[in-house]
Amino acid sequence: MKGIVLAGGRGTRLYPSTKAVSKQLLTIYDKPLIYYPLSTLMLAGIKEVLIISTAEDTPCFQRLLGDGTQLGMEISYAVQDVPRGLADAFLIGEDFIGKENVCLVLGDNFFYGTDITLILNKAVHRTDGATIFGCLVKNPQDFGVLELDERGTVLSIEEKPQNPKSNYVVPGLYFYDNHVVEIAKSVTPSARGELEITSINNAYLALGKLHVELFGRGITWLDTGSPSSLLKAATFVETVQVNTGYYIACLEEIAWRRGFISKEAMITLGESLKMTEYGQYLLSYRGAHTYD
Ligand code: G1P
Repeated sequence: MKGIVLAGGRGTRLYPSTKAVSKQLLTIYDKPLIYYPLSTLMLAGIKEVLIISTAEDTPCFQRLLGDGTQLGMEISYAVQDVPRGLADAFLIGEDFIGKENVCLVLGDNFFYGTDITLILNKAVHRTDGATIFGCLVKNPQDFGVLELDERGTVLSIEEKPQNPKSNYVVPGLYFYDNHVVEIAKSVTPSARGELEITSINNAYLALGKLHVELFGRGITWLDTGSPSSLLKAATFVETVQVNTGYYIACLEEIAWRRGFISKEAMITLGESLKMTEYGQYLLSYRGAHTYD
């Protein structure tokens, strides 16, 4: 399975912070925002990743992550010249996807929890159709909203409805079989002029091939769309890291634990960051036994 991180857009809702810097490069506590969605793909075992961004920002992502070899990955880049909507990722990424299935994660979405690996694993191994998720929020009108019957079966998905039919919304993490490329080609722009991911999900629903997993208490999904939610996410990361001693979205550690790189390679990466607590965290694994 291939992975795409969509990190385009102008981030106008966070101006002036994002006037000169991509939103996905802003810091969430101790690392850039894009580390968090990228870590989600890595936890799903995905090694081949395409990062889609603007022409101005792409060199910055390249400087940050290179070609991914250091993480045992293959990271490539593509430019989205105009923000045409999320479904555009599959048109831009058509050659990259080739004949494989694909997972799309939005560059500003943050997932955390002990259940996440289990849920990802299930989605990766479902080779036919699409898997999306549902998450309970207080402001459903800002998202794609699920309409569910009493048994939890999805009846429809509406993009940012004025009168939401539930408080379950679809977070920015989507798994699709290879048909997604053809489906994306048939999508027409919505009233706001975008190729909506919700249109793709409704197409899978109409085919009877949409699987929806509702997140339980074990998973946290954080929105990073406003200054206050960015601060909340940063505080969350600090609290978890300081209290548990485990880092969130430490890419080098995940690469090692998922078997993408050796422990020695991870320690070498830690050496180059040893002036920071992040680097010291990696180095703390030198010679240490791990029990988890
Ligand atoms: C997009 C999708 C929406 C989804 C949300 C998750 O919204 O269109 O369905 O719920 O991402 O973050 P947008 O970022 O375009 O506001």
